[in-house]
Amino acid sequence: MLPYPPCPVRGPLTWGSVQLSTRWLLAPLAGYTNLAFRLAVREIGGVGLCTTELISAIALVRGSRKTLDLIRTCPADRPLAVQIFGSDPAMMRDAAQWLQAYGVTSVDINMGCPVEKITRGGAGSALMCDVAQAVRLVQTVVEAVHIPVTVKMRLGWDDRQWTAPALARECEQIGVAAVIIHGRTRQQGFTGTVHLRGIRAVVEAVQRIPVIGNGDVRTIPEAWRMLQETGCAGIAIGRGALLNPWIFRQLHEWETLGQPQSQPDWWAFLAFMERHFTLQVEERGERIGCATFRKPASWYSKVLRPGKRIHGRLMQVRSVQAFQEIVSALRGKGPPLAWRLPATYNSPIPVPAGPIAHW
Ligand SMILES: Cc1cc2nc3c(=O)[nH]c(=O)nc-3n(C[C@H](O)[C@H](O)[C@H](O)COP(=O)(O)O)c2cc1C
Repeated sequence: MLPYPPCPVRGPLTWGSVQLSTRWLLAPLAGYTNLAFRLAVREIGGVGLCTTELISAIALVRGSRKTLDLIRTCPADRPLAVQIFGSDPAMMRDAAQWLQAYGVTSVDINMGCPVEKITRGGAGSALMCDVAQAVRLVQTVVEAVHIPVTVKMRLGWDDRQWTAPALARECEQIGVAAVIIHGRTRQQGFTGTVHLRGIRAVVEAVQRIPVIGNGDVRTIPEAWRMLQETGCAGIAIGRGALLNPWIFRQLHEWETLGQPQSQPDWWAFLAFMERHFTLQVEERGERIGCATFRKPASWYSKVLRPGKRIHGRLMQVRSVQAFQEIVSALRGKGPPLAWRLPATYNSPIPVPAGPIAHW
């Protein structure tokens, strides 16, 4: 293996008043990055901060049980940002205050979600269309809490309006602690490539706060390129963490030791799936834990390639015992010939098909 170039960024990453242990952050993935997954990733190490999936500020303030389920956490699940979406400043303020009292590390405001059911109410990436209004909303939240407030945005609505640099600059001036920027426009959805020069423009637009680059980083060379070409202070990884939950640890080893030390094999991946399942059942109980494991099970199956029969059983798992039998069968079978971690996440993780998709 050729040696990697050194990590171009050094020094601690600060998040308002909080110092993070690494600059490698877990990006929010609705339906995937729940408490069990976050804890399993944290056990591997290297992750500086995890963010929950987006939750509705209104639903949180109204005490929706489903929303409260989405932000379940525990002391080991720190540092933790909870991401809220909405377009009403007063609701966003109340939700942020609720979260502060709940004890989270920071509140992240969603300005990137491209999905129509979010944007039609003026939330998510729709906020990027009116910078002045977005800034008023963010300011209301920042002034209402003492924990750090961050904003996760896209480059803008479409290629004609990359509002992210102006928005990031104004967010910094009103006290936002960090900006996380997914280098696509809303129009792009999840298609095409990430515009590193757009992320660079955001980095150049702010003076002090960290800008976290996001999009399509799965490997150390991809992380190096993101840091080198954009000047960002850290990287948020979403889909790459599902493919390779060791990525944060590998990046931290690369940054501190020059080379990644951990190289997960098929057996380690199988053990990770088992750990994730166990945590999910501990967290949600056997029935719901098994039912909610179907989504992750489909991506584990794509990665582990257990064959049609075991795949079918995994997708229908209804009890801890059935799951343990599957794991034993897999252990008996071992990895497929010439197994490697897949290099692309296009197949295991479905994304909205287009920017106006109902998801
Ligand atoms: C299934 C899925 C769910 C997502 N959910 C959220 C979310 O709740 N909040 C958010 O800000 N971004 C969400 N995203 C966007 C990711 O956080 C990230 O910006 C995007 O996937 C690009 O980064 P990646 O290539 O590292 O995955 C989601 C993406 C996917 C694929």
